[in-house]
Amino acid sequence: MTRKLFVTTALPYANGPFHIGHVMEYIQADIWVRFMRMQGCEVHFVGADDTHGTPIMIAAEKEGITPQEFVAKIAAGRAQYLDGFHIAFDNWYSTDSPENVELSQSIYRKLRDNGLIETRTVDRFFDPVKGMFLADRNIKGECPKCGAKDQYGDNCEVCGAAYEPTELLNPYSVFTNATPVLKPSEQYFFKLSDPRCFHFLKDWLNTPGRLQPEMVNKVSEWLGEHGEKLADWDISRDAPYFGIPIPDAPGKFFYVWLDAPVGYLASLKNYFSKNGGDYEAFLKDPAAEQVHFIGKDIVSFHLLFWPAMLKFSNHPIIEKLKVAVHGHLTVNNEKMSKSRGTGISPLRYLELDMNPEWLRYYLAFKLNSKVEDLDFNGEDFVARVNSDLIGKYVNIASRCAGFIAKRFDGKLASSLSDNAKQWIARALTADGAERQASIAALFEAREFGKALREVMEIADVTNQYVDEYKPWVLAKDPEKTAELHEVCTTALILFRQLTIMLAPVLPSVAGRVAEFLGDAKLAWNDTKGGAVYETMLGRTIGAYSHLMQRVDPKMIENLFDKPAAPAEAAPAAAENEAAGIEPIAPEISIDDFSKVDLRVARIVNCEHVEGAGKLLRLTLDVGEGRTRNVFSGIKSAYKPEDLIGKLTVMVANLAPRKMKFGVSEGMVLCASAADEKADPGLYVLEPIEGAKPGMRIR
Ligand code: MSP
Ligand code: ZN
Repeated sequence: MTRKLFVTTALPYANGPFHIGHVMEYIQADIWVRFMRMQGCEVHFVGADDTHGTPIMIAAEKEGITPQEFVAKIAAGRAQYLDGFHIAFDNWYSTDSPENVELSQSIYRKLRDNGLIETRTVDRFFDPVKGMFLADRNIKGECPKCGAKDQYGDNCEVCGAAYEPTELLNPYSVFTNATPVLKPSEQYFFKLSDPRCFHFLKDWLNTPGRLQPEMVNKVSEWLGEHGEKLADWDISRDAPYFGIPIPDAPGKFFYVWLDAPVGYLASLKNYFSKNGGDYEAFLKDPAAEQVHFIGKDIVSFHLLFWPAMLKFSNHPIIEKLKVAVHGHLTVNNEKMSKSRGTGISPLRYLELDMNPEWLRYYLAFKLNSKVEDLDFNGEDFVARVNSDLIGKYVNIASRCAGFIAKRFDGKLASSLSDNAKQWIARALTADGAERQASIAALFEAREFGKALREVMEIADVTNQYVDEYKPWVLAKDPEKTAELHEVCTTALILFRQLTIMLAPVLPSVAGRVAEFLGDAKLAWNDTKGGAVYETMLGRTIGAYSHLMQRVDPKMIENLFDKPAAPAEAAPAAAENEAAGIEPIAPEISIDDFSKVDLRVARIVNCEHVEGAGKLLRLTLDVGEGRTRNVFSGIKSAYKPEDLIGKLTVMVANLAPRKMKFGVSEGMVLCASAADEKADPGLYVLEPIEGAKPGMRIR
């Protein structure tokens, strides 16, 4: 059945260049789009930059340019990635566009008219110098739990505690260092708690074919049994904010996540206006479908807020909406971190002249229709590409094409023996069924890995055939000329079949093969009936030129060896970092480091502090002929008696700090996870035996 499709990927934040995770999402969607087009489907594949929000506004300010200029610069850099990896969006647009303003405001007005918008006044931190309300990440102060300085308004990176920004001690604005003041602000809420939302979402999620089953389960949990878990959503932000104004609400803007998904529609509308399509007609077409490819981290926005917004603004596209969620790409089993350089820079990949189709094939081979993470592993990459693409696929053509050119004037045999036909049938059937049909079903279901395994089985049979008849041996015997002709023809017929089935993954190779074999275009229909070989018989083909090099393992070393510049880790990117391991702080010089005087200290005494929930009082000997008094927020992790007598490490030149219980003359070093849930523990550092109190750590 041919389908009418509107396909999107998540709209990337316009705060930095693409990373390899973005590229993997686009490759997944692009393969599916190419496959559906080969089936004769009408597909509109669009993307856009997600431009609004505080991080982008601040980043622009730092560069001394307007947010519009900032996002234009980012947009200008997109093509080299998309073209480089053969990702063929029909349109790449922006959420900062007239279409998006109009569509977002219109959706909002309808929600309001439908009684789903409510205003409430809430107290928010405000920077009186900058004249701006502050997001949690724009406020720093001392951790209310452990007293660590310079912690963000949402959680402490020293002790891992999570809290409200209003709980910080001595809070200050990261922009101006001013002390923020609490200021009431009227906020606009989308009433997701309205029973209508629950009833609608429950039905919507459970419509067959809309979502992966694991997603239906997950989101059902978020709803609660009767919708009791659905909370209203604050969709407003106060000026100054880079965003879309809320109608009839001076000084208020839509929170970026309200207008971001509307950007899908804005890009489609813009695309249709450029290519003569009819946007309104498409929305109303009952046969049309919309498929969003997104990562698992942004599911709540796409499976709660977005459908509810569409439904209660009576948007016709709600009936068409399907969501395909993928897991995350890790690199050598680590979450990617730009600051530590374990990620793969997509541009560096291209600069090293690594073939983009290697990556497309490798990722496709690892992808399935589930929400599972997938890992890029260098050795595995080399082995997979070299074995499948070079050893199995390209190898067929490179062993047979030359003989057709040299010995038969480029002309394929004009008939085949029954034996050759049987080999073709054997390669293209499994368990009595045509492989092309099952491969097509797997591609359509986004089971790319399984589809490619089947394709490689066809290649295996083809290679068995070539190995059995050995054209290079036949070529030496003048009496075997006809046989040589048939074997090479048969192998190339199967090579053509393989190429068609690999075309969604290897579009550039497929284009070159089509040209070499004299096909104007390779279509999926060419895997059926007489198109398999009858159209090939007697055909004159072009000159074969080598299709693809092997991966040189040295390339992989170079791929990893260059940690990205710290500047690349823009603020919002850092927020998206691994939850367990926090990003490495900006680079410092050795001089910066030597300002911190770290010393080995003996814990000569340790005791509870009356009235302090988290603190222990430590008496430390740092070899100075006197002891120091230090308070440390480690009560949850240690009993005083466990620490007495032990060595540890302290910051000896930290300015003394007056606390409720006395003066703290330094800080003891502890390890802790960035994500309190992953590991709530605190671990006091202890030097290896032999170190003496007072020794400096350098
Ligand atoms: N701007 C929002 C999306 C708005 S959609 C209306 C956003 N942007 S993002 O740049 O952070 O992420 C864009 C997409 O990349 C998301 O689908 C996200 O899941 C995906 N990925 C981010 N890291 C990824 C991996 N490591 N692996 C695979 N996809 C990854 O979220
Ligand atoms: Zn803390």
